[in-house]
Amino acid sequence: MKRVMSRREAMKTAGIAAGGMALGGIAEGWALSAESSAASTIGASIKDHAGARGILYGAATEHGKLENDPQFAQLFAEQCALLVPEGELKWRTLRPTPETFNFAPADALYNFTKQHQMKFRGHVLIAHDPYPGWFEGYINSSNAKKLMTDHIRGVAGHYAGKMQSWDVVNEVIYPQDNRSDGLRNSAWVRYIGPDYLEMAFHTAAEMDPSALLVWNENWLEEDSEGGDAKRKFFLQQVKPLLKRNVPIQAVGLQAHLVAGHPGIAGPRFQAFLQEVGDLGLKIIVSELDVRDGSLPADFSPRDQKVAELYTQFLSAVLPHKSVVAVLTWGLSNRYTWLTKFSPRSDQLPVRGLPFDDVMKPTATYAAMIKAFDAAPPR
Ligand code: G3I
Repeated sequence: MKRVMSRREAMKTAGIAAGGMALGGIAEGWALSAESSAASTIGASIKDHAGARGILYGAATEHGKLENDPQFAQLFAEQCALLVPEGELKWRTLRPTPETFNFAPADALYNFTKQHQMKFRGHVLIAHDPYPGWFEGYINSSNAKKLMTDHIRGVAGHYAGKMQSWDVVNEVIYPQDNRSDGLRNSAWVRYIGPDYLEMAFHTAAEMDPSALLVWNENWLEEDSEGGDAKRKFFLQQVKPLLKRNVPIQAVGLQAHLVAGHPGIAGPRFQAFLQEVGDLGLKIIVSELDVRDGSLPADFSPRDQKVAELYTQFLSAVLPHKSVVAVLTWGLSNRYTWLTKFSPRSDQLPVRGLPFDDVMKPTATYAAMIKAFDAAPPR
């Protein structure tokens, strides 16, 4: 069997110190140095191929990664037309106390998008986690409405006119909590009730009428009983809200695909996409990546399989003209949540994104470009 380089060996070969910090530092800020031009030899960018079909391509990242790693920052600027903060807009980062907001980390990302003519996307106003330490002991049924609407007013107000889209709510449907309405039993449901949904969307629309307002969900794409339940409860919730003119404008399909799960993007999902489009909702593929833990160690067959999953998913989704944007949850395998949350048992680097951990395009990159080229224009 071909020996696979460890992450550390691969980085050494590429002249990158572990941690990816060798090519610059905070002092260089957002300047993209000439020595970090490895990525610019790639030629075609995913954003250009997607853009040619009227689709925005982007990725999630954290500000520290762009600040500390000019090679990554350069790749990001070359490949992405849209940036979504991976954590900077979550309560845990944004709300050090019940009275204050810390916009600095997210503002740093916004400034990067301005410098590189990219669009900015908000994730997320109201979710079930992660919250700062003060939150649980603070929220109660008397203050929950004000806490939620003050938060949305403060945050959506701060970025008014600057956001391509906002995830107003995230991972709302959770049949495992056994509520008859399928809603997750979050603090918002417990202290406000299901009406928190329409309250959140109305407040966001009032504060930022130009952002596309998104309901972001996970597992909608799975061809499984779990996927069926998610789709059923989502439609059951969203239809009456739309009838009452609640400004829900798009659904976010997270699409954290899992290699080895049976059935991704099958006929039931296709029917769901059609129904979502018929309801007048846009679709954003919001967090695409692949967990490769069940795939072979060798890079070549592993990359091939990961790329096949991207192809399978994108070729099911992109024909729907309601799809306006596709984002991967990270751009390079050097920085992905999966390293921590879904590591491989053989300790090898995970490879679920379009660029590997030395910023070279993988088979997934080619698969994405091919999928965008085949998509009908919108
Ligand atoms: O910033 C702290 C650092 O100070 C501390 O030393 C370190 C110790 O573990 O933790 C750092 O915080 C981590 C944070 O990511 C920033 O990297 C948290 O532990 C970690 O829990 C957090 O995980 C994020 C997770 O959401 C929870 O917010 C992942 O990076 C992020 O990829 C993930 O994103 C979610 C989407 O919001 C919703 N959809 C699913 C997706 C993947 O789980």
